[in-house]
Amino acid sequence: MEKNIFVADLAAMKRFAFAVARHAKPGFVIGLAGDLGSGKTTFTKYLAEAMGIQDVVNSPTFTILKIYRGTIPLYHMDVYRLETIGYDWSLEEYIDGDGVAVIEWYPYVGAMLPKNLLSIDIRATGETAREIRIKGEGEYDKVVEDVVRRYGN
Ligand SMILES: Nc1ncnc2c1ncn2[C@@H]1O[C@H](COP(=O)(O)OP(=O)(O)OP(=O)(O)O)[C@@H](O)[C@H]1O
Ligand SMILES: [Mg+2]
Repeated sequence: MEKNIFVADLAAMKRFAFAVARHAKPGFVIGLAGDLGSGKTTFTKYLAEAMGIQDVVNSPTFTILKIYRGTIPLYHMDVYRLETIGYDWSLEEYIDGDGVAVIEWYPYVGAMLPKNLLSIDIRATGETAREIRIKGEGEYDKVVEDVVRRYGN
């Protein structure tokens, strides 16, 4: 299942992230794509907030991986500089692990991705306007419909 969602501003992005967070459970993997500054980290911040995580979520660009402890742990990865920083991060153990994994620039780690994946591609169409393409594969096929319904309400 694939859907397009229009996000007008930050408040709408927050609403979208909260709708996605309803599906948070161990092993949930979310892939984020989109140009620099499109809003991947911003989405992750709202997702973390919705998951009850108190810490400030910021860009993990120079560390590849940041771990946030909540009721369910959140593994926030940004693999943009994986080639530069090095591959020795054992990311796989977080991808099919005990928490929710969010991977910024997921197309860069195609071989590492699980068959059950929710991918979110963000495109800036204005200062605060974003066009989102959300796609659910495997068991996340049905999640797309639910997210769209919740977001719409
Ligand atoms: N509707 C929106 N959704 C998300 N971000 C928005 C929106 N409107 C404005 N912004 C702003 O756009 C910027 C997005 O930056 P962010 O760091 O989230 O992008 P990114 O995709 O993670 O970039 P990078 O590829 O460098 O990691 C933020 O400054 C945010 O406040
Ligand atoms: Mg980012």
